[in-house]
Amino acid sequence: MNNTATLYQDLERVLITREEIQAAVKRLGEQITKDYEGKEPLFVCILKGAVVFYTDLIREIDLPLNLEFMSISSYGASTKSSGVVNIRKDLDVDVTGRDIIIVEDIVDSGMTLSFLKKVFATRNAASVRIATLLNKPARRRVELDVEYYCFNIPDAFVVGYGLDYAEKYRNLPDIGVLHPRIYAKDE
Ligand code: IMP
Ligand code: MG
Repeated sequence: MNNTATLYQDLERVLITREEIQAAVKRLGEQITKDYEGKEPLFVCILKGAVVFYTDLIREIDLPLNLEFMSISSYGASTKSSGVVNIRKDLDVDVTGRDIIIVEDIVDSGMTLSFLKKVFATRNAASVRIATLLNKPARRRVELDVEYYCFNIPDAFVVGYGLDYAEKYRNLPDIGVLHPRIYAKDE
């Protein structure tokens, strides 16, 4: 344990350790490096949840690349998707002709990324792919191609390594299942 030990008390269990995350992120970085050989992709980080994954992933990629940040709202403080998606902070660049990789923390219902893929297609990107740390296929509500993911996980609410509950737990180095007693009192 380290100086985030108090946060671990709110977990039911650790689901994915920092060592497992590091190995998976490295593998994904190698895969993307191969797939995008000769290209200069634009990595779009979806704030704030993807930040930790993003900063690790880009350092495992041996390509010239560019960074952009976007903020989308879909959840509020609850653990269930509201289905409402809107852009709070947009990109700073024109994406015409660019190969975009959207970097996300988790694909749950798929609503957020299905919306974003359409947005970038409308803006004439050359290609748009998704790289997500976590994927919850059982929860999908729309059809969505998820080209890259590190882990498929069961239907549980998880926090850590960037993922939050009510803006907390993002700094946990591992990924854990949040104890239901934490959100039961808010619902
Ligand atoms: P989607 O549109 O339902 O796919 O929502 C994806 C977003 O919901 C993610 O970017 C997260 O912010 C949030 N989310 C979904 N499941 C979890 C979870 O288990 N823990 C933390 N955030 C989650
Ligand atoms: Mg998010």
